[in-house]
Amino acid sequence: MGLGLLASRAMRPLKSPNFSMFARSIFTKPELQSPESAGAEALAQPNISTRTPVGGAQVHFPNPEDAIEVFVDGYPVKIPKGFTVLQACEVAGVDIPRFCYHSRLSIAGNCRMCLVEVEKSPKPVASCAMPALPGMKIKTDTPVAKKAREGVMEFLLMNHPLDCPICDQGGECDLQDQSMAFGSDRGRFTEMKRSVVDKNLGPLVKTVMTRCIQCTRCVRFATEVAGVQDLGILGRGSGEEIGTYVEKLMTSELSGNVIDICPVGALTSKPFAFKSRNWELKGTESIDVTDAVGSNIRIDSRGPEVMRITPRLNEDINEEWISDKTRFCYDGLKRQRLNDPMIRSADGRFKAVSWRDALAVVAEIAHQVEPEEIVGIAGKLSDAESMMALKDLLNKMGSNNIWCEGNGMQTSADLRSGYIMNTSISGLEKADLFLLVGTQPRVEAAMVNARIRKTVRASNAKVGYIGPETDFNYDHQHLGTGPNTLLEIAEGHHPFSSAISNAKNPVIIVGAGLFERDDKDAIFSAVETIAKNGNVIRPDWNGLNVLLLNAAQAAALDLGLVPQSSNCLESAKFVYLVGADDVNLDKVPSDAFVVYQGHHGDRCVYRANVILPAAAFSEKEGTYENTEGCSQQTLPAVPTVGDARDDWKIIRALSEVAGMRLPYDTLGAIRSRIRTVAPNLLHTDERESATFGPSLKPECTQKMSWTPFSSAIENFYMTDAITRASKIMAQCSAMLLKK
Ligand code: SF4
Ligand code: SF4
Ligand code: FES
Repeated sequence: MGLGLLASRAMRPLKSPNFSMFARSIFTKPELQSPESAGAEALAQPNISTRTPVGGAQVHFPNPEDAIEVFVDGYPVKIPKGFTVLQACEVAGVDIPRFCYHSRLSIAGNCRMCLVEVEKSPKPVASCAMPALPGMKIKTDTPVAKKAREGVMEFLLMNHPLDCPICDQGGECDLQDQSMAFGSDRGRFTEMKRSVVDKNLGPLVKTVMTRCIQCTRCVRFATEVAGVQDLGILGRGSGEEIGTYVEKLMTSELSGNVIDICPVGALTSKPFAFKSRNWELKGTESIDVTDAVGSNIRIDSRGPEVMRITPRLNEDINEEWISDKTRFCYDGLKRQRLNDPMIRSADGRFKAVSWRDALAVVAEIAHQVEPEEIVGIAGKLSDAESMMALKDLLNKMGSNNIWCEGNGMQTSADLRSGYIMNTSISGLEKADLFLLVGTQPRVEAAMVNARIRKTVRASNAKVGYIGPETDFNYDHQHLGTGPNTLLEIAEGHHPFSSAISNAKNPVIIVGAGLFERDDKDAIFSAVETIAKNGNVIRPDWNGLNVLLLNAAQAAALDLGLVPQSSNCLESAKFVYLVGADDVNLDKVPSDAFVVYQGHHGDRCVYRANVILPAAAFSEKEGTYENTEGCSQQTLPAVPTVGDARDDWKIIRALSEVAGMRLPYDTLGAIRSRIRTVAPNLLHTDERESATFGPSLKPECTQKMSWTPFSSAIENFYMTDAITRASKIMAQCSAMLLKK
C-alpha cells in the first residue's frame, strides 16, 4: 500500500463519532503532575533509606531444644543456639550501633562500634563477634558501654573529613546517624587529618576514600557475594586503605550493591553524584523488568524524573541485592522516548498526528486484511494487562497468531511446569547439585546466579554446565557445548549421570534461549529423561526448572500467547508490535503494515508505519510474573512522557475505533478478564507452583540437531529498549565488557 495513500487516510475524519468516554480519554491529554506539585509531594513523603538494613535476626527455632535464654538489660530473651550477642539484642528489640557487621556477610569484628558490657567480662565485648551463651547477662545501656562507643566514635572521626554538606551520603549515612546517637558533642583531636587517594572502580561506583572507615564490608561483599577478588585492604594501622591492589575496575554485575552496604560516603553512586539530596526524593515501591527475576526495587523520583533505583528487601527473590543493570538503567527511561503518535508519510518521514488520526489509520488497515494475515507480538517488557488486551483484540479480528518475544514460535503453554522455575529461587539453596543446560545465569538472571553461588559456597554444591565457554563466579565443571553431551548424560554414559543420581536434591536449569531452537522438544525430552533417571522430580522435590530471559515471558505463556501457525510472520500483512524490538522483521513481507506501540524509538520503530507512544514500566501500574511464577505489580513513580498512554488503554481505544470494542474500561475490569484466563496472575506477591509435571507430555519424536548451544545474551548491560537507550549502560558495555 502506498505511503501517500496512508498519509491521506490519516487526515480523514473518523467514520463513527460516537466514542465512549474511555476512547475520549485516550484522545485528550491527561493532566500531568507539575514538577512543583510533585516536588511538594516528595517533600511531604519521608524518604526511607535502604542502606544497611537492620535485621537478619528472624527468630527461627528449628528445634525448640536448641533455644537458650539470655538476659538483655535485665529482660529474659529466648534465642536459638549459635546466635551472637548482637543478634540476641536485636531479638530483644535493642538497637546496637554497628558499622562492619552485616547480616549477610561474614563477621569481621573490626569497627568495635557494637561494644556492650557482659557480666563477668573484664572489658566491653564486640557483640557482633561474641556468641551468646546460656544465662549470659548483656548490658547495653551502662555508662561503660556508652563511654566505649563514644571512644570508638571519636577515633573513627579522627581522620574523617566531615564534609557532610557536600557528601552524597548525607541524610542516609550511618556515621552521621550514629555519631548523633552515640557520639560525643566534641572531639579532642586537633592534628592534621590523613587523606587517601580515590580509586577508579569504573563507571558506576564513585569513591571518596578519605571517608572510608575500613569496615571491610565492600571487600567481604565482593569476595563472598559477588565472587570477584577485586577489592582488598592495603597497608596497616593509620596507613590502611581499601583498594584494588593493581589499578583495575570492579568487574562484577553486582558491583552497585557496595554503594548500599558502605555505611559511609566512601562508595556512592557515580551517575547519581551531586544530582539530588535524598530527602528531596519520592520513593515508589516497584519491580524490575529488565530480566525475568522481578527484583524488588524502589524508584526514587523528583518531580517527573527518575533519579535513582535502589533495592527493596525480598528474601524469596533478590534478598537485598540488585544487579547493576537493574540499578543503573534508569537514565534510559529519559532517552529515545516516543512522545507522540506518528504516521510515516509519503517521503518516509514520521509525522506527529493526533491519537484519533493514528488509531483511525490502524483500524482501517486492520479491516482490509484477512484474519490469518494479522500477527501480534508482545515485547519483553510487556505487562499482563497489555498482553491480555492484545490477545483479545487479535482474537476479535479473527487471528490467533500472537506470541511474546523470547518464547519462540513453537513453545507450548500447556504445562506450566515446563516453562517456570519449579524449585523457586530461594528453593535453590536446598540443592546439592546443579546441571545448567544452555543457560548462563550470570548474564541471564544475575540474582538467580547469586543464589546459586550462595548455595555453592554454603554447601559445596556441584555445578555441571553444558553450553558455550562463559564466565562463572563459582567452581563448575564444563561438561560440553551442546546436545551430544546432554544425550550422553540422558543415556547414562557420562560420569555426571551418576553424580545426578547420587545427589540428594539435584537441580536442572534449562535456559529459555533454547525455546528458539527447532529441536527444542527433543532437548526438553532429553532433559526430562535425565530428571526421571536422576530423582530430580519427586513428590517432595521438583528440581526441573526453566530460567526465563524476559519479564513478560511467564505471563504471556500463562495467558496462552502461542501462535497458531509457526510461519505466520512470512505471510503477514498487518503486524502489531507491543514494544517488541528483538523480532526479525526481515521475514515480514515488504508491503506489510507494521504498527509499533512502545515507549522507546528502538530497533523495530524503523520498520513501523504507525507509532503509538506508550508508558514505560516506571509510569504505569502493571502485572508481571517472574521466572519462578510469582506475580508482582509495578506502580507509577513518574508521569508518562509526552502524549504516551498505558499499553492496554491504547489497545482498548483502538478496539473501539475499529468497531470491535473490548469489554473493559478500567484496570480492575481488565484484571477481572485476566482472572478468567490465568487467576494466578492476580495473586500478587504469591508464588503459584505448577501442579503437573512432564509425565503428561506426549512421546517426543523430534530429532535432535548437533548444533552447539549458543549464548542467549551477548551483552549483559544492553538487553532491551530501556537499557539500550541508557548512556550508563553504554559506558558499562564499553568499559566493563572489554576483556
Ligand atoms: Fe558526613 Fe557521612 Fe559523608 Fe562522613 S560519610 S561526610 S559523616 S555524610
Ligand atoms: Fe567500609 Fe565503605 Fe570503607 Fe568499604 S569503602 S571499607 S564499605 S567504609
Ligand atoms: Fe561489631 Fe563492627 S559491628 S565490631
